[in-house]
Amino acid sequence: MKGLILAGGSGRRLRPLTHTSAKQLVPIANVPILHYVVADLVGVGITDIGIVVGDTAAEVMASIGDGSRWGAKVTYIAQDRPLGLAHAVVVAGPFLGDEPFAMYLGDNMFEDSLDGVVDGFDGCSAARLLLARVDDPSAFGVADVAPDGTIVGLAEKPEEPASDLALVGVYLFGPRIHEAVRAIEPSARGELEITDAIQWLLDAGEVVEHRVLEGWWIDTGKKDPLLECNRLVLDRLGGDGVVVDGDAEVVDSTLVGPVVVAAGARISGSTVGPYVAVGARCAIEGSTVEHSVLMDGAVVSDLDRLTGSVLGRSAEVTGSPGDQVDLSVLLGDHSVVDARSSEGGTGG
Ligand code: G1P
Repeated sequence: MKGLILAGGSGRRLRPLTHTSAKQLVPIANVPILHYVVADLVGVGITDIGIVVGDTAAEVMASIGDGSRWGAKVTYIAQDRPLGLAHAVVVAGPFLGDEPFAMYLGDNMFEDSLDGVVDGFDGCSAARLLLARVDDPSAFGVADVAPDGTIVGLAEKPEEPASDLALVGVYLFGPRIHEAVRAIEPSARGELEITDAIQWLLDAGEVVEHRVLEGWWIDTGKKDPLLECNRLVLDRLGGDGVVVDGDAEVVDSTLVGPVVVAAGARISGSTVGPYVAVGARCAIEGSTVEHSVLMDGAVVSDLDRLTGSVLGRSAEVTGSPGDQVDLSVLLGDHSVVDARSSEGGTGG
């Protein structure tokens, strides 16, 4: 079985972070999301992997390389414009050939391995979907499942969902999907929807199997789910949940696990954690930071409390010592936030 990772999307819902970098490379517990995705596929023996890339191709290629570090062989497939998940299958056609494949959305993260999902799939049934119960099905593709457990219909972001079973970001396909993705028309949002292509398979009388997910699953494409994912992954750390790289410096500070601190970071006079990932070369001084992701080189100084935040690379947030400021932000790379009050502050 081949693997197909989709990493061509534009990350609209994580702007401004995604103006300058790929949403699939945002770090969760200091590891880019896409690295977990590649490892998941390799974990179930899928090593021949195609990655569909768009505007952020260079960054994705620099991060993943040829895949050899995971024991995988990676082929990059250019998608000129993000015209939908089914369009990605169209452009990947020559790579996939007639082999069954697992398609994995590059910004999705799962608690459990894919073992139970891929087990026994040989492409004889046209597709196998992974479904999860969600609170807000109208934000997803939704499956209509008959009492006997067969899928009878699918709809993309329906106003009146037939169930609370959403399609989540891993799909297994046999070769007939190639006919389906060529047969469908763009949706109202102008994309070729994989949901419509699977409905086409159903209409053609094909069998579409499914599995219902038990562990957690997160589409990390927005700030709050991203932070929730960071929290869930940090929760897996053993011991006191405090992991500090040997090349990081922690002075006069309290680390509250779970927390990870990468190489070259410097934390002084601060309380950091729980649920904080501090990227390489970050600096935190005289501040309290909780429930946040700090990407490489981010700086937080003299801030009473930073929480529920994602700071892009080398972003800077500055407060004044003694000022009560409670900040929750999503900052793009190199952004600067001056939270000093006019009367207090450093007078700078
Ligand atoms: C896409 C699919 C949708 C699926 C979701 C899972 O939505 O179109 O069917 O439920 O991924 O993350 P999008 O993220 O493109 O809105």
